[in-house]
Amino acid sequence: MSNERGKWGSSIGFVLAAAGSAIGLGNLWKFPYLAGKNGGGAFVLVYLSLIVILGFSLMLGEMAIGRRGKSDAYGSYNNIKKGWGVIGVLGILACFLIYSYYVVIAGWILKYIGIFVTGGLSGDPVNYFSDFIASGTSPIIYSFVVLVVTAAIVLKGVAGGIEKASKIMMPILFVFMLVIVVRSVTLPNASVGIKYFLKPDFSLITPQVVIAALGQVFFSLSLGMGVMVTYGSYLPSDTKLIKSAFYIPVLDTAIALLAGLAILPAVFSFGLEPTAGPGLIFITLPKVFSAMPFGNIFGIIFFLLVLFAALTSTISLLEVVVSFVVDQFKMDRKKATLLVSVLIGILAIPNSNSFGSMADVKVFFGMNFFDFLGYVTDNLLLPAGGLFLCIFIGFVWNRDEVKKEITNDGEIEFPMFSVWMIGVKYLGIQLLSLILLQAVGVQNTALVYALLTIFVVQILCGRLEGKRGVKTV
Ligand code: PFF
Repeated sequence: MSNERGKWGSSIGFVLAAAGSAIGLGNLWKFPYLAGKNGGGAFVLVYLSLIVILGFSLMLGEMAIGRRGKSDAYGSYNNIKKGWGVIGVLGILACFLIYSYYVVIAGWILKYIGIFVTGGLSGDPVNYFSDFIASGTSPIIYSFVVLVVTAAIVLKGVAGGIEKASKIMMPILFVFMLVIVVRSVTLPNASVGIKYFLKPDFSLITPQVVIAALGQVFFSLSLGMGVMVTYGSYLPSDTKLIKSAFYIPVLDTAIALLAGLAILPAVFSFGLEPTAGPGLIFITLPKVFSAMPFGNIFGIIFFLLVLFAALTSTISLLEVVVSFVVDQFKMDRKKATLLVSVLIGILAIPNSNSFGSMADVKVFFGMNFFDFLGYVTDNLLLPAGGLFLCIFIGFVWNRDEVKKEITNDGEIEFPMFSVWMIGVKYLGIQLLSLILLQAVGVQNTALVYALLTIFVVQILCGRLEGKRGVKTV
């Protein structure tokens, strides 16, 4: 393949690939355990509100930047406004780091498919899981298998690889998901779990819950990392961005809710704890499956579906970095894919060993390697990427040009444009600053003052734009 930029074969192919990036371990592994830990319905309510307030808006913004910039995450920002490519670099770095630990968890999923195919888990699920992840070579090999499969798909390019794989895997994922949900909600006493998951207890909504939900919105929608910029750059100019930016969060949220309905009712039905955390699908679910008739079959279906979801996400994580190397260093796609995959493979080793031989190696503030990368990406790089994205759209990119890009040069009606702009320019910046500031330890009164200062700066910058003759919102 030459260095020519790829293009999606169809709009639906693009939506499925972008939804494939969004739908992943974040929905099936993280969302149910975060909901379980953060008060069930309270967390779900805050999460849904944030998807509506920010998710759609930022999805649209990222896609517009990609389609206008027509390059990788770095190049797209730079093509629109020289010097701003650094925002994309943050995203590319985030993808690189996330991929190096994401692939480890995807490897565990692969292992669990094998377990259920060969007759189910024997022994205590807690010990089994902790022994396996600490076992050194074996989990590393599983993660390398995921790396190789992902690389094989990305090697084939945008339409032939990513789009084709997403078109096959995403519909299967939906069908499998429904099978598991039907099984879970029809178990005895499932209603207790359904209620826990869907009925919000408002007293459980705390600042911590809001922060956890906001982080999860970004992670789950693959926002702030240049994924939607990169995928958007392969879009033809007549695609209706607003429609796509609507469908992707809807699909992603639907799968997250279905995942909650697949897991939590079953957990309650078998009298287990919903607050188990990251081990929920590796420890609690196998217990559920072993107590169910045909549990192994459901185990295979469930873990296969998680693997498909994870693969369509690893593809996007790799593509963001490969696209950067291809576009900026004019490297052949094959070489770029191999190079990046080898580097990720090297980084995956300490990530995997963080549960075994390197568990006690504290890299930073008592965190091991895996926890440290998770902290840096979730708490710093993602919100920073989101914050700069909002600043770029709200204050750097010319407002009329933004409108032109989103409305296909005025062909599509977007009466909510001003509301959208206010959301990105003011609310987005405030919320993301809040996450970022508290992640670096700013709290209480200092936090309030910092947010107020930012607000004053926002207003001043807005007025300055007005004086320069740029129409503000
Ligand atoms: N959105 C994916 C998930 O929910 O699993 C994870 C992810 C993919 C995060 C791609 C970031 C990214 F760039």
